[in-house]
Amino acid sequence: METQISKLCVTATQRVLKNHPLGSWRLHNTSMGFRYFRVEISPLDGLAGKSLEKVIKLDEQMAMTAKSTGVRSYRNKGVVSIEYNLPETMWRNCTKKMLSKPLTIGAVTPNQLISFGDFTFPHTGIFGTSGSGKTTLIKTILWTLALKYNPRDLQLFICDPNSQLTDFDNLAHLKSPIARSDSDMAKAVGAVHATYLERKEAGTLHGTRVLLLIDEASQTLTKKDTQAIQQVIDLVSKGRTFNINVIFGNQDNGKNGVYSEILTNLANRFIGTVVNASESTTCSGKAGLECHKLQGSGDFVRVRSNGTAIRFQVANLTPDDFETLPRSEFVPPPEPATSANYSTEIPQPNVGGRPQSIITEERLAQVAWLHKEDLLTYSNGLKYFNLNKARFKQVRDYWLNFTIELKELNND
Ligand SMILES: Nc1ncnc2c1ncn2[C@@H]1O[C@H](COP(=O)(O)OP(=O)(O)OP(=O)(O)O)[C@@H](O)[C@H]1O
Ligand SMILES: [Mg+2]
Repeated sequence: METQISKLCVTATQRVLKNHPLGSWRLHNTSMGFRYFRVEISPLDGLAGKSLEKVIKLDEQMAMTAKSTGVRSYRNKGVVSIEYNLPETMWRNCTKKMLSKPLTIGAVTPNQLISFGDFTFPHTGIFGTSGSGKTTLIKTILWTLALKYNPRDLQLFICDPNSQLTDFDNLAHLKSPIARSDSDMAKAVGAVHATYLERKEAGTLHGTRVLLLIDEASQTLTKKDTQAIQQVIDLVSKGRTFNINVIFGNQDNGKNGVYSEILTNLANRFIGTVVNASESTTCSGKAGLECHKLQGSGDFVRVRSNGTAIRFQVANLTPDDFETLPRSEFVPPPEPATSANYSTEIPQPNVGGRPQSIITEERLAQVAWLHKEDLLTYSNGLKYFNLNKARFKQVRDYWLNFTIELKELNND
């Protein structure tokens, strides 16, 4: 298969070059990633040496000739790399299971893995348009960190304005529930900043690692939130010394470059598909990476402050992977009191598996009240009460009785 693709892409490159008076070129190298087949060429004469930029602009013609959906073409010193998109069937199965080595979040090829987790490059930016795969990457990173670190050694604060990270709702590492409302998100940023100030004041350099993760920053830090923006700037510029790290995800650099001061301090960046070449340069901090030519759905380039840039495919988690996460016994604060006053004894758990929440009748009745006549689904049981399957069955009966009683009361 690889030989066939190689032949197709090399021939397409040669054919297009032949049709243009751009000097003579040498085939420098070929390689295959999850999402692309790369042909590298270098100039053999003076004319070719002056034509590097012109060759990059032939990407559309090369894609058409190879019958590929697109090409990302860029230069590195005297070499032009031409990356032909591969069909979806070839990368769809790049799941976390396939990449079973600890700390792995993706792969350049099945043998060259990309990892995350030692915070050598302390703060991380994740950029890309809608559908580029930012949240999926964040999930894979969170999953990786949750398995590497004991909850005693890593405290998480998460801002998730679009409720895309519910799989992590009762993760044991959460220092407070995942923040979703404007006020909760401001509080989460404020709490991490307060920890930074305390540690700074006390000179605490080796405190428990604290990680603030912000998905869709433009919703968490709107332009008017000058205080929160300033707090994040403080954290990314000075938090590292105090074991405080930030993961900052957004579609772009914010309207009118509102995040430029944050961006300069992100030494580790993941760029997915962005809207144009200018956004590619701003978000990556490096010209010519052509991230607007990436294909979306987990096709990312990792750029580090040491100048390295590498394209890889993010590993996509499967539902089974979430079963392995350490969950906490944290019970969310009760909803506002309702008129429900129901007191049937709830059977208490006596089953194995992960630790269970302590469920009071009051809490169960409150959630059932909010859901009115809905049956308790397994996913809601997990979300609200951290129930395993056996415990879910017990609680479902209580819930059912409660909703029947409620209906009768309403009919009275
Ligand atoms: N690594 C991946 N492997 C396979 N498919 C992926 C991967 N990442 C993303 N996708 C596909 O792309 C879709 C969008 O991904 P995701 O929600 O992560 O994007 P996003 O950048 O967060 O978008 P938005 O800005 O709208 O929230 C997913 O539902 C999935 O179908
Ligand atoms: Mg998202």
